[in-house]
Amino acid sequence: HEKKDSISIGFSQIINNDMWRKSMDHAMKVEASLHPEVKLTIYNADREVKKQIQDIEKMIEQDMDVIIIAPYESDSIVPVIEKANLKGIPVIIVDRKVNTSNYTAFLGADNIEVGRIAGKQIVSLSKGRANVVEIRSESVTSPGTERSLGFKQIIDQFPDIDRISIDADDFNSTNSKYVKILDSIPNIDYVFAFNDVIAYNAWKISKKKKPNNKIKFIGVDGLNVPNGGLQFVKDGILTATVLYPTGGAEAIKLALRISNKEIVPKNNKLNTTLIDSLNAEIMSSQFDKISLQQSDIENQQNFIKDQSEKYSSQRNLLKISITL
Ligand code: FRU
Repeated sequence: HEKKDSISIGFSQIINNDMWRKSMDHAMKVEASLHPEVKLTIYNADREVKKQIQDIEKMIEQDMDVIIIAPYESDSIVPVIEKANLKGIPVIIVDRKVNTSNYTAFLGADNIEVGRIAGKQIVSLSKGRANVVEIRSESVTSPGTERSLGFKQIIDQFPDIDRISIDADDFNSTNSKYVKILDSIPNIDYVFAFNDVIAYNAWKISKKKKPNNKIKFIGVDGLNVPNGGLQFVKDGILTATVLYPTGGAEAIKLALRISNKEIVPKNNKLNTTLIDSLNAEIMSSQFDKISLQQSDIENQQNFIKDQSEKYSSQRNLLKISITL
């Protein structure tokens, strides 16, 4: 295949105020920087569906080579995806599902499996006898619905596991519904939360209200950053988390293959796995190695940039001195 000298990739991110989204953006930028022909532009919609649609409209107007979308929810985004498709611009959907099949590829982990992994962990730790609280995501999204579905599929097979499901208020605020549950159920054994941030908040609330509680917390994401899920597992705050990779680097790689006219699978599954005290150390040291290599590459690139700037200014000096 003939390679283009410039490939424009637009990425519409729905929010970037949480660590998972920030890691996704970062992974995309790092991967893009490894391919000098790629020009990556990231748009952040501040959690506003309207803004996200406008951002994508802009990318269509600019006739980008590939558009990557991390959608907020499944329906409102459909017309603009179809518009890109009609114009012949390939679209990659990441993380959350959309209610159309008129896109080029989907990339993400299986959220039903994520819920099942969490459910199985509780079943095996409790030997099928426990009081469980599930804290779902506060908004209706495909990861929210699917994680909950997979979790229930496993947990509800066990008659001696009692499950109560509540919605999170939001990622950051104190969870009033959880506080009520904590007051009304004296013997909660496990909490499974939509993500590590919500799980951590529930842990904090429990610690404050019932300092001697024995509740075990399970989250989702497993980010390897300070205050990320991996750290929480290593610190014993979370009993486990389910790895939910952002797919940032993979999305750029996929975009490149598509722009090189390769045929790619429609559904590109990212792997998920349980992280608990047994494998948290090894997982984080592996991830650390990878990010060290990435920052090495970034440093080298900056060095090269520096050198070439120096070189061109020296050449200019030389030219000046010759003319003088
Ligand atoms: C971050 C986040 C993650 C979660 C993903 C699901 O915004 O809530 O915690 O795994 O989005 O869409």
